[in-house]
Amino acid sequence: MARILKKEQWSDTIFSMLIEAKDVAKASKAGQFIILIPKEHGERVPLTIADSSKDEGWVQIVFQVVGKSTLELSRMNEGDELYSFVGPLGMPSEVEKFSGKVIMIGGGIGIAPIHPIAKTLKDLGNHVVSIIGARTADLLIMEDKMKEASTELIVATDDGSKGKKGFVNMVLEELLATEADNVDRIWAIGPPIMMKACTESAKKFNKPIIVSLNPIMVDGTGMCGACRVTVGGKTKFACVDGPEFDGALVDFDELMARQRQYKEQEQKALELYKAKEGLA
Ligand SMILES: Cc1cc2nc3c(=O)[nH]c(=O)nc-3n(C[C@H](O)[C@H](O)[C@H](O)COP(=O)(O)OP(=O)(O)OC[C@H]3O[C@@H](n4cnc5c(N)ncnc54)[C@H](O)[C@@H]3O)c2cc1C
Ligand code: FES
Repeated sequence: MARILKKEQWSDTIFSMLIEAKDVAKASKAGQFIILIPKEHGERVPLTIADSSKDEGWVQIVFQVVGKSTLELSRMNEGDELYSFVGPLGMPSEVEKFSGKVIMIGGGIGIAPIHPIAKTLKDLGNHVVSIIGARTADLLIMEDKMKEASTELIVATDDGSKGKKGFVNMVLEELLATEADNVDRIWAIGPPIMMKACTESAKKFNKPIIVSLNPIMVDGTGMCGACRVTVGGKTKFACVDGPEFDGALVDFDELMARQRQYKEQEQKALELYKAKEGLA
């Protein structure tokens, strides 16, 4: 069963949980995700596998409370059982030993999914330069884990409260201005607008960039079509063809528009849940 073994609150809205899930831990590879349902009659929530231990049989999820289901999950405690926990889903990251450096960029909650990929690339003997960023120092997560998973770590915050002041794509551009010849591959994970900006920077220097897309998902098995995205002019299902794609081919504007399509219903679901649970 998927029992919550450990729960930590990392900021006002960000939580980490270790979930007992031996089979998922055994089979999981960097870049994959799970879909959980917190409680019976709840909604499906796709979350990236941020870390796992095959020996101890756990999977780590790191999530931000953005609506009803993530709020419901955040209110569960150590010892509670999740109603459903399915995975690993999606295609693993295509990792290899590159001759040049790899740059890993994690923005906000995107630091959680970039971590296992950076760790795997470093284990393969790569020179991993990671750039992690958040709006402010309080929201910066997994700095120690990213330090361990990287050869070099650069921290940036929008307000300059920690590390360099500015967006991660600005740091990427600075780095590419001096180092582009030594860089073989870039990964960027975070809000679509950040991945779009990083892709623009990578394109300027003609460098390949991989992004991980987070459209709304329902079944996670390629059957419902909810997660369709346009990549290179073709329709792809992020749950089975991705979630990672060549950033230069992604239609980010369509992705962002599709993510917003249920805003009103999501707001209503959150209000109803809060009223039912007596939350402010
Ligand atoms: C492959 C993948 C990996 C992800 N990994 C992480 C992660 O590691 N950590 C994390 O915090 N978030 C992650 N997300 C996003 C997370 O799934 C959503 O934030 C969550 O489902 C929101 O549910 P909600 O009911 O709390 O919010 P809602 O109020 O329902 O929605 C808030 C916003 O979340 C998005 N969303 C809503 N439902 C879904 C859904 N079923 N699938 C995807 N997005 C949805 C929409 O853009 C929506 O605008 C991932 C999404 C995908 C597709
Ligand atoms: S979530 Fe249904 S096809 Fe991808």
